[in-house]
Amino acid sequence: MNILVTGGAGYIGSHTCVALLEAGHTVIVADNLCNSKAETIDKIKQITNKEVTFYKIDVTDEVALEVVFATHKIDGVIHFAGLKAVGESVENPLEYYYNNLVSTMVLSKLCKKYNVNKFVFSSSATVYGDNKVPFVETMNLLPTTNPYGETKAMSERILTDIAKVNPDFSVALLRYFNPVGAHESGVIGEAPNGIPNNLMPYITKVAKGELDKLRIFGNDYLTVDGTGVRDYIHVVDLAEGHVAALDKLTAGVHIYNLGTGEGTSVLQLVKAFEEANNIEVPYEIVERRTGDIASCYADVRKARNEIGWTAKRGIVEMCRDAWRFEKNHK
Ligand code: NAD
Ligand code: WQD
Repeated sequence: MNILVTGGAGYIGSHTCVALLEAGHTVIVADNLCNSKAETIDKIKQITNKEVTFYKIDVTDEVALEVVFATHKIDGVIHFAGLKAVGESVENPLEYYYNNLVSTMVLSKLCKKYNVNKFVFSSSATVYGDNKVPFVETMNLLPTTNPYGETKAMSERILTDIAKVNPDFSVALLRYFNPVGAHESGVIGEAPNGIPNNLMPYITKVAKGELDKLRIFGNDYLTVDGTGVRDYIHVVDLAEGHVAALDKLTAGVHIYNLGTGEGTSVLQLVKAFEEANNIEVPYEIVERRTGDIASCYADVRKARNEIGWTAKRGIVEMCRDAWRFEKNHK
């Protein structure tokens, strides 16, 4: 299939482009590079030895995006493009609501106009809010604590409502848990600008000596050791989940958790990283971070049963691959 990948130069998008190309699909990327670099497109080509068509455009720009739809016979879209920094979304809600919602609406509109019926959307486990773990797709969503999370819940609703009145429209809402790691080549990975917000990129910067120590946000949660528990998923497994969802997509709306089903605490992840890479990660315990929940992990049965996908890579591979990329990356 010819797949339009919005945000394909980004962290998860680039790994998914590799997985799509390896599965025999053709990839067209639309990305405005607001949080990524054009050289990532070359790296995708380098890893796969395949061609990628790249448009440097903003997905909220309907006129620019329509050129892509008019030029290529697109069979499906995977919509990664979006802003994702939780704290920044609290500081600048309008930017987040505008970018993340308008992009989803413009893309849906063009899909309808050009008769593109397969739509895969990057959602997030954040839409479950502070539900009881493990999170199951049938749960009622709870309010998130930030505009970023709300844009994911709202985009899910927009796509669901569109599908209700367009019987041929096939939508996969993929709720990612905590993506970490990098392609095993060490060529592509996660390279956030500035000081990382997320745990794994923070750990790799500390291990590299660019940051002096990790600050662990709270050790008084009701968890195995008091630190927050998350379902870390290798980004290559996540990428493969998109290919599986796309291949199996049928009319209607299908929601899938993409996680491993395993919870890992902050301290357990730090220890696993130290052991996997034989390197020390100094840390201190500080106050809880506002908006954090104690535990978040997936019930993974639906994706396994319906799209035949399960995560294959464990915490050790996640830690090794994250570190390999960080060491290679300038
Ligand atoms: P990323 O920032 O690395 O990638 C997003 C890409 O979208 C970037 O390349 C950016 O330049 C591009 N982009 C942003 N707004 C755009 C616009 N208006 N037009 C064109 N391009 C635009 O982020 P990621 O971690 O790869 O996340 C991809 C998607 O998955 C996002 O929608 C994110 O919200 C979602 N998600 C991420 C996580 C995570 O922890 N990384 C978890 C759950 C969901
Ligand atoms: C993981 C754990 C922290 C940093 C976020 C978004 C979510 C999704 C994934 C996009 C928590 C602890 C972290 C640090 C720490 N993104 N931590 N010190 O918060 O689970 O999820 O990214 O959709 O929407 O909210 O991920 O990596 O920030 O935190 O102790 O410097 O690590 O408290 O327990 P989170 P994270």
